[in-house]
This record gives sequence, C-alpha cells and structure tokens, in this order.
Amino acid sequence: MAGVTSRCVCPGSYDPVTNGHVDVVSRAAALFDEVVVAVLYNAGKEGTFTVDERLRLLGEALEDVPNARSVAFADRLLVDVCRELGATAIVKGLRGGTDFAYELPMALMNKHLTGVETVFLPGNPSYEHVSSSLVKEVVTYGGDVSGLVPDTVLAALGERLRRGPG
Ligand code: PNS
Repeated sequence: MAGVTSRCVCPGSYDPVTNGHVDVVSRAAALFDEVVVAVLYNAGKEGTFTVDERLRLLGEALEDVPNARSVAFADRLLVDVCRELGATAIVKGLRGGTDFAYELPMALMNKHLTGVETVFLPGNPSYEHVSSSLVKEVVTYGGDVSGLVPDTVLAALGERLRRGPG
C-alpha cells in the first residue's frame, strides 16, 4: 500500500550494543519499513557508557541498516514512546526460556496499556550467551569478547573497563 509506513521499536538499555542486538535490529529492519532503536534510561542512574556514547556506538554498529535510527528517552514508559513515534509493534529477541519468562509479562502489560503488540524473534544461537552485562564482566577481568560485540564496542569496552594486571 503506497504511503503506509510500518514502524517498530527495538527498546533496551544498549549499555553497550552487542552483536545479538545488531542481529535482532537487522532482522526487524527486514520486517518493518522503519526501526527505531529506543535507548530507554533512568536519568538518575549512571550506566557504564553515557547515553550519547551508547547512541554513537549504536549508530556505528547499525551503519549498514539504513532504515534503523537510534533515539534516547529518559524515564518514559515504553508504550508512550511507541505512541509518540507512531510505532505499532515492539520487537525483541529471545535467547531462551528465561528471556521469555521475563519478557512475557511486559509484553502483556504493554498490550494492556495501549494495545501495542510485541513481536518476539528467536535469537541467533551464536549469541545465546551474549548480554551487555556479561560482556562487561568478561572484559573487566581481561577476557576476550571479540566477535560478540561490534569492533568499535570492543575498543570502547577495553578503554572503559579493562583492569591492569594485579
Ligand atoms: O536492555 P534491557 O535493560 O533488558 O531493556 C529493558 C527495557 C528498557 C526494554 C524495559 O525496562 C522497559 O521497557 N523500560 C521502560 C519502562 C516501562 O515501560 N516499563 C514497563 C514495562 S511493562
């Protein structure tokens, strides 16, 4: 249908973006005309990366996904963000049953609040073990997460977190 734009939101903290996120956003971009990657954050809580840094890393990671853009929102309900953006769906990746148990009540609550639908994509098994928090812990103690995060994120993590020996 000409003139109709389908838009979804991929929400998260993205502190920082991982290859698992990139996989889900890229696949959402094949299903919708536009994907808005929404960095939702608490203005009173400091992350590992500032919101501007998270947006910059997302922009670099999603360079090859022309119909995805990243926007940050402080202290907002996801359903209000979706309404403001004119998005009809939330897209999330599921790494397994634990993710599903965590995500299902949120999907039902969001549906209850405004009727917005949540679409779950099965996570790429290559990234089943990948989360922002786990990669940060591994890097902090000197482990190698190359291949699990974009190269720019790898460099940023090393600078921010890697501890010297001893
Ligand atoms: O990357 P994360 O930390 O798993 O993302 C969680 C996030 C930001 C998607 C979730 O906490 C969220 O939707 N927060 C916005 C506030 C909100 O709408 N809460 C009610 C959810 S039913």
